Amino acid sequence: MKVLLDEATIAARVRELGAAITADYRESGDLVLVGIMRGAVCFLADLMRAIDLPLRVGMLDVRSYQGTGPGQPSIQGDVPGGLAGADVVVVEDIIDRGVTLDAVMTALRWERPASVEVCALLRKPGKCSPRWLTGVKYDGFDIGEEFVVGYGLDYDQRWRNLPYVALWDGDGE
Ligand code: IMP
Ligand code: MG
Repeated sequence: MKVLLDEATIAARVRELGAAITADYRESGDLVLVGIMRGAVCFLADLMRAIDLPLRVGMLDVRSYQGTGPGQPSIQGDVPGGLAGADVVVVEDIIDRGVTLDAVMTALRWERPASVEVCALLRKPGKCSPRWLTGVKYDGFDIGEEFVVGYGLDYDQRWRNLPYVALWDGDGE
């Protein structure tokens, strides 16, 4: 598979995002990263270590894709507790159409956090709704419309363990 973003490129950008979040939330008494599982697993693990602040970590399990075809997002299990009054940063692997984030934001707002922002490793500006062209405070990389795997992103649950982001070519070779 063709490498789109190599390990060093990802690591450098994650450090920048972590530094920006550190600067922006220095005054916050209660920063909570909420990772959207399972795609954000690598990004969440690296990003939290790039933030030099006390913080809490939660996870939300959301299903949306079947293979490379989009479906309706469904939130599995419970929204992390204790978010009332907290400053939440949603950590997402990729914004494709943006419907997963729409569902996540709606669910999180019920918990009455003080603020909610989005940190996404990847975004597909050619596909996402206008809301997510402007509504992402921390945006790692803007990419084309092709399907990608690796660094947490899967095709039918495989390839999440690639240390880089690659263009999915249909056969995995
Ligand atoms: P959206 O709801 O259309 O924005 O889709 C977002 C979700 O679909 C992400 O959280 C991913 O889990 C998955 N997804 C979207 N595009 C890709 C891709 O190119 N590779 C792997 N997963 C993707
Ligand atoms: Mg996802």
